Amino acid sequence: MALHWIVAVMIIGNVVLGLVADDLPDGWIRSAVDTHKSIGLTVLGLAVLRLLWRFANPPPPLPDSYSPAERLGAHAAHWALYALIFALPITGWIHDSAWKGAPTHPFALWGVIPNVRIGAIEALDAATKERIHAVFFDLHVWFGYALYGLLALHIVGALKHQFWDGEPELQRMLP
Ligand code: HEM
Repeated sequence: MALHWIVAVMIIGNVVLGLVADDLPDGWIRSAVDTHKSIGLTVLGLAVLRLLWRFANPPPPLPDSYSPAERLGAHAAHWALYALIFALPITGWIHDSAWKGAPTHPFALWGVIPNVRIGAIEALDAATKERIHAVFFDLHVWFGYALYGLLALHIVGALKHQFWDGEPELQRMLP
């Protein structure tokens, strides 16, 4: 539960930061983008923990009142969200590691842990990095769009079960 809410807040904050970073005053952009990267890589670490936790502690079964289609939809949305929680930081990380400005703009995780870019990508030739930089940014943006859609479905689904079906859906995720 704690991991669910921490990751949820970090992801929503990071979407906002990613979308507004370029519109901030010039002096703030660099630190906003670096904070975005630090939050994103932290989400990746927490997502690994979350998955391990989930395999070790399977969640309680869904209520019997849910139809087979609702169960399938809920499970599909949950696993697609897990996939995006990995895909978004990984594509951002690859995009940033291939950035031609990386050597002159060192990035330290939370300003503390240096050299967190992917060395194997940094070592590639300039033309290949340029392509990787562009392709993985497009993927990052598209996975962002997929996240908005799935997050909306996830929230609408949870609220529907809670208030329409009268199932204690939110209580499943609260202590
Ligand atoms: C929770 C994980 C993440 C989420 C939800 C996320 C989401 C986003 C979004 C929504 C954008 C704006 C895209 C647009 O313009 O439509 C963005 C931009 C960007 N992301 Fe991420 N991101 C994540 C992780 C990362 C990571 C780990 C890195 C790099 C280490 C990264 C690097 C970037 C960069 C460089 C930009 C462009 C910022 C700018 O110059 O405006 N992201 N991200």
